[in-house]
Amino acid sequence: MKAIAPSILSADFTRLGEELRAMEKAGADYHHLDVMDGHFVPNLTFGPLVVEAARRISAINLDVHLMIADPMTYGPICARAGADFVTFHYEATPHVHRVLTHIREAGAGSGLSLTPSTPVEVLGPVINYLDMVLIMSVNPGFGGQTFIPESVDKVSRLRKFLTANSDRHILIEVDGGVTDKNAAELFEAGADILVSGSYLYGAPDYGAALASLKAPRR
Ligand code: DX5
Ligand code: ZN
Repeated sequence: MKAIAPSILSADFTRLGEELRAMEKAGADYHHLDVMDGHFVPNLTFGPLVVEAARRISAINLDVHLMIADPMTYGPICARAGADFVTFHYEATPHVHRVLTHIREAGAGSGLSLTPSTPVEVLGPVINYLDMVLIMSVNPGFGGQTFIPESVDKVSRLRKFLTANSDRHILIEVDGGVTDKNAAELFEAGADILVSGSYLYGAPDYGAALASLKAPRR
């Protein structure tokens, strides 16, 4: 699978509905919604109300990325607000298994995200409870940061690890600093979904920018 999830963090919030519709029309596969709480990351964004509003006007899947200290409470709430996938951070809670289970029970696909310094092997004990793994290719908190090059190798190691330990196809998503300079190698390494904020929403032509991320390596 080769899918793109534009991050609304870089959208024009005064025209959020129009932005979502424009990205959808241009060919986006998911909308990526970054929920931040000012505790797990040093930035604050929005919560379930925006997930619910996006649900009302979106025909495509909503991919919610929780960068918050309390995914146990807000994971199921975001699922009930209409998220198709809810992803939280391994580093945020000692109760990873329980949160994954609660997200699935609330009706969404369960995702777990790893910051750049967390190794892929931590996923072993909860592999049966994962629908998606999100590899952060910047330190979470802000859009517009520079891609960490070691992330490509981490994606390859993750794909091997998942294939060796599970019969299901668990989605790999990569988030942070994704542009046309690194998209092709990330897909080749085994990524299914690439998140992109500033590169896509900063582009003059959303359709051309989306196509450039799906293009083969030049
Ligand atoms: C960062 C967020 C990302 C962010 C990506 O912590 O999780 O989803 O919006 O933005 P870019 O593509 O600009 O790095
Ligand atoms: Zn994100």
